[in-house]
Amino acid sequence: MKRILYTISLGLAMVACSSGPQTNNSSVDQRVEDLLAKMTLEEKLGQLNQVSAMDNLEDMAAQIRMGRVGSILNGVGAARINVLQRVAVEETRLGIPILMSRDVIHGYKTIAPIPLGQAASFDLDAVQEAARIAAIEATTDGVRWTFSPMIDIARDARWGRIAEGYGEDTYLTTQMGVATIKGYQGDDLSDPTSIAACAKHFCGYGASEGGRDYNSANIPPRQLLDVYLPPFKAAAKAGAATFMTSFNEIDGVPSTANAYILKTQLRDEWHSDAMVVTDWASSAEMLAHGNCSDRADVAAQSINAGVDMEMVAETFIQNLPDLIKDGRVKMSTVDNAVRNVLRLKFRLGLFDNPYVDENKNVAYSPEFIEKTLKLTTESAILLKNDNKTLPFSSKVKTIALVGPMADAAYEQSGTWTFDGEAEHTITPLKALQSLEGVKVLYEPALTHCRDQKAAGIASAVAKAKQADVVVCVVGEEAIMSGEAHSLADINLYGKQKDLIEALSKTGKPLVTVIMAGRPLTIAKQIEESNALLYMFHPGTTGGTALADLLFGKAVPSGKTPVTFPYMVGQLPIYYNHKNTGRPAAGTELLIDQTPVGAGQTSLGCSSYWLDAGYGPLFPFGYGLSYTTFEYSNVKLSATELKVNDTLKVTFDLANTGEYDATEICQLYVRDLVGSVTRPVKELKGFKRVALKAGEKKQVEFELPISELAFTTLDMQNRVEPGDFKLWVAANSDDNSNEASFTVK
Ligand code: GLC
Repeated sequence: MKRILYTISLGLAMVACSSGPQTNNSSVDQRVEDLLAKMTLEEKLGQLNQVSAMDNLEDMAAQIRMGRVGSILNGVGAARINVLQRVAVEETRLGIPILMSRDVIHGYKTIAPIPLGQAASFDLDAVQEAARIAAIEATTDGVRWTFSPMIDIARDARWGRIAEGYGEDTYLTTQMGVATIKGYQGDDLSDPTSIAACAKHFCGYGASEGGRDYNSANIPPRQLLDVYLPPFKAAAKAGAATFMTSFNEIDGVPSTANAYILKTQLRDEWHSDAMVVTDWASSAEMLAHGNCSDRADVAAQSINAGVDMEMVAETFIQNLPDLIKDGRVKMSTVDNAVRNVLRLKFRLGLFDNPYVDENKNVAYSPEFIEKTLKLTTESAILLKNDNKTLPFSSKVKTIALVGPMADAAYEQSGTWTFDGEAEHTITPLKALQSLEGVKVLYEPALTHCRDQKAAGIASAVAKAKQADVVVCVVGEEAIMSGEAHSLADINLYGKQKDLIEALSKTGKPLVTVIMAGRPLTIAKQIEESNALLYMFHPGTTGGTALADLLFGKAVPSGKTPVTFPYMVGQLPIYYNHKNTGRPAAGTELLIDQTPVGAGQTSLGCSSYWLDAGYGPLFPFGYGLSYTTFEYSNVKLSATELKVNDTLKVTFDLANTGEYDATEICQLYVRDLVGSVTRPVKELKGFKRVALKAGEKKQVEFELPISELAFTTLDMQNRVEPGDFKLWVAANSDDNSNEASFTVK
């Protein structure tokens, strides 16, 4: 086997190499056709094969020389990638470069909050900027394709992957997904700092029954069209370069063999020419699903349904030659898949510029840290702040900083953090210890979030008693959310609850900070704490953001991108639910108020739980500030509109408190009567509005009436005439500023 003679020298210049097709100046599609016409079947199938990086470079190079590799995932490092790319470009017949890929989910080196935390910022510009930073850092290491954004709608906090998406709302998820795609792909995919995005997991993965990962999703057609597909449709419109099929089935059809989503929707309806990749072995897993009889059947069903590239399962490369001979797969089908792969590679500029500049190092630059800190600070949600516990005044000289997440650099970055180094992470301990004039008494009390030993609580209590205030940082270790890490109970784990209870009894002002990958059931901890800040795993700058918020250098603005249940038994719970025929009034007798021997008729016959009422602990879109805001004077540009009109909604927003701050104003709409039942509310707009203390300004939302379309009884997507209500609101439970209009 030919040894690799190349020495990996840092001086490897970026050589504009065009050993591939010489028609550089023709259109991409022409270049694709020219190349495709030259390819053998074996070379074509190699392009449809994505392999996981091998530790041994020579073994990897051998696979490349055999033409078996179209893409590699999880191989990073400019020098390493250049060595492999040089084999592909200079040691294979057609010199087709390899597409190097990696899960860059919420940052590459500089780690931003997990996507659920980013969603809490409702700041599309900051989220786009975070994706741009991730793209610059990742492409410097040779990565040109990321498997992000994850735009699965998630209404069940038991599902570990709720951490990776943007929450329960279709509109917010859609906006966040598009912003992230723009950040990754930039204006020109061939720019060396651009990275191909991947809209995943296509589709309906977040509806996994019981919140148990990989479980069946039973999504009725209208819900699929109105709740789960829209973020992917918007991703297609935004030019997402790739889509990834999801592990789950929908009503018996695994997504990797689902022609309805991969062809009817993605190609026929949305006219996307994106490349479709399977999830990790999701093709071969259809043997376990039971809709495929053998690996040849897997390959046939997948590629015939619209899959282009197969991630690691290798059923394509092993079975397609015979399947083509047997006529079960047409050559034209294979050619189309290869076209989608080659087109992406041409668009990325890989043929003209396959090598990575090995002299660039931009990781953790001050600019990246500063921008990430802004997003991290905006992602924090203030859920309670009694008696203005926060921000700390200058009288606070000694802080007891306790809890297993107070100095847990690795855990603080959350799930899907592969390349960000923990030593660069600023933990609460590091941040508070760097403050002038503040004495920090530090006691983790528990060794980690799952610690079942309570022995350390006493020393935490002792330190609390010596301090002016207590900051207790708890939550989830990174491994407690993310893929395959769903929970049947979402209380704080281990002895964390005991720690907070003990601290609350000291009588010292207690600020609880929760760093987690999901909303947890924290009703008791809310009661026991004077203030509570929620930071969905905040990443590299989490400690600095916390310190800034605690001392008022920053004011919290984050709002819940997902409903916080009161009890796990309420799940799935979400704000844009249907009204049912017996909506709860909120006055129903709860289990402890119900008299012994109560007659059956005396109990409320409405939709609620005897032991939990019907409302959540915190609704979607909820978050406090250090100041207060007042909404007033809602005005509509018209009260009768046609489908092609745009409704202008104006209102006054006043900062009626003492701090300059930002409010995330929300616009909700309700379609009162439809040919099918309609949600009680739907988010149709949001704006971050900065106001100085005492300032008041007019805010405007524009609502195209066409955005009120939904899937009607006869399965058409259209706006139905009728009466509507709208609210400008501080959260999804705020009905204080209501208006009405009619669509003719
Ligand atoms: C994983 C995940 C997917 C990820 C892929 C590659 O199993 O489901 O989100 O992008 O494999 O790591």
